Amino acid sequence: MEHALDITLTVNGTQVSRRVAARQHLVDFLRDELGLTGSHVGCEHGVCGACTVRVDGEIVRGCLMLAVQANGCRVDTIEGLSDSKELARLQKAFHEKNALQCGFCTPGMLMAAQDLILQGKRFSREEIRSHISGNYCRCTGYQAIVDAIEEVMNGQG
Ligand code: FES
Ligand code: FES
Repeated sequence: MEHALDITLTVNGTQVSRRVAARQHLVDFLRDELGLTGSHVGCEHGVCGACTVRVDGEIVRGCLMLAVQANGCRVDTIEGLSDSKELARLQKAFHEKNALQCGFCTPGMLMAAQDLILQGKRFSREEIRSHISGNYCRCTGYQAIVDAIEEVMNGQG
């Protein structure tokens, strides 16, 4: 039987305790154990960014981190940030600029974009592109995504 461990963490503001397989990845834990399927699984080896979540305030790849490594941490997912309206301006801008098509990359892209917005500075388009370069989008060509992020950034005074 696979080695299992008890973990307790705070997910989107709610404390949860579970017994998890030692090798279960954080994104699988969130999706399969907690039903938080907004974080997507694409490449499963840290390349595409679809699985991006926030752990103790830092964005991480949920497919590279183990669930047990999040023991004691605060984890925020796209569901939590949407519910709290933290992403409202970005989501509106993505919608208005047509910055999503199939939507597969969008949760991870929003998490990465918000990470940049939270720095509270103006960044050039090149810097925005660089920041989201670890988030792959097969549909949009990135132009509209950069437009949307830039709009929110410029609107924050
Ligand atoms: S699924 Fe995690 S980076 Fe692609
Ligand atoms: S909108 Fe389809 S992968 Fe980005």
